[in-house]
Amino acid sequence: MDKEELKAKFTEIYHEDPSGYYFSPGRINLIGEHTDYNGGHVFPCAITLGIYGAVSSRNDQKFRFYSSSFGELGIIEVGLADLHFVKSDSWTNYAKGMLHFLLSKGAQISHGLNIYVDGNIPDGAGLSSSAALEMLIGVILNDQFNLNVSVLDLVKMGVATENDFIGVNSGIMDQFAVAMSKKDQAILLDTNTLAYKMVPLNLQDNVIVIMNTNKRRELADSKYNERRSECEQALGDLQKELQINSLGELDSETLDQYSSLLSSETLLKRARHAVWENERTLRAEQVLQKGDLAQFGRLINASHVSLQDDYEVTGKELDTLVHAAWQQPGVLGARMTGAGFGGCAIALVNKKDVPAFEQNVGTVYERVVGYEPSFYLAETSDGAKVLE
Ligand code: GLA
Repeated sequence: MDKEELKAKFTEIYHEDPSGYYFSPGRINLIGEHTDYNGGHVFPCAITLGIYGAVSSRNDQKFRFYSSSFGELGIIEVGLADLHFVKSDSWTNYAKGMLHFLLSKGAQISHGLNIYVDGNIPDGAGLSSSAALEMLIGVILNDQFNLNVSVLDLVKMGVATENDFIGVNSGIMDQFAVAMSKKDQAILLDTNTLAYKMVPLNLQDNVIVIMNTNKRRELADSKYNERRSECEQALGDLQKELQINSLGELDSETLDQYSSLLSSETLLKRARHAVWENERTLRAEQVLQKGDLAQFGRLINASHVSLQDDYEVTGKELDTLVHAAWQQPGVLGARMTGAGFGGCAIALVNKKDVPAFEQNVGTVYERVVGYEPSFYLAETSDGAKVLE
């Protein structure tokens, strides 16, 4: 979408011209799943599917929000003095959370704004539409009010919005990827220290195909919080003898050696995923840098198997897509991406095989699941930004 189109759409709703334009991307995670709240590594990149925003100033204390994806809700008005979670305020709760945390950190937000958002990122599909929205609002407020808040602080406020405003105990990966990404690169992030490295995403003759189960995944409704607390219990068991602060500090050998400390088979499986996935992620970055995409693909496959069998966050829809993908010519690897329980998977596919890939995987999926999946070619993107 270009600025002209965004301007026309804004004007239709607010009957005046916007004064600022913004974009915030979604993300995929290449590997390193359910490791971010365990102090492990993640390896995401932002994609060109995302959310656009246009804004004009108001001379009162009201924020007015309109999203083309939720057109039926019309304009939702929020007073600056009234930033509470209200279920019927729907998507604007993410914006309210960002406003709330910025104000509580002392940001001077002197007046309201008219905000129009329009996206091409499927929402609830595991591509981080909510982090995209949070970082979009963060960038808008930073720009409109010259707040000079650092990107990392915006990222942390996005996480606080999820954790303390919306009620999902998610980690830092999504906001970090959405805010910090650079086109053609992926980010290897150590969620324990927040040290990170930008890694060129050279896929040679291959592309990443995003496969959407079209099964909605809502973190708050899912078993996400349950998995997180299982990992906390596993850590607690291990801490009886090990001096560690997170599962991310463990290597697989040590886990093996101390596995009898875990009080159930389930906790062992959860911990095993967290620890092994962290090792796979570090390995994946190394082989990608060497250009060994075959090995990169195998690590991606192993990640899915672990998420399926040990972490148990895949389900019929994701497994059908990924297992069908594994059977196709020209596929180096495939796995679910994001939280799981529906949402999207990714596959690394040779460019020339993409049409047949989509056809065949689509046919299998429809036969087994009963409705169609969607496919998108992932292109990498910069992080959330002002559109100049
Ligand atoms: C969601 C969360 C992230 C991360 C992933 C799983 O996307 O928002 O913090 O935990 O799930 O890797």
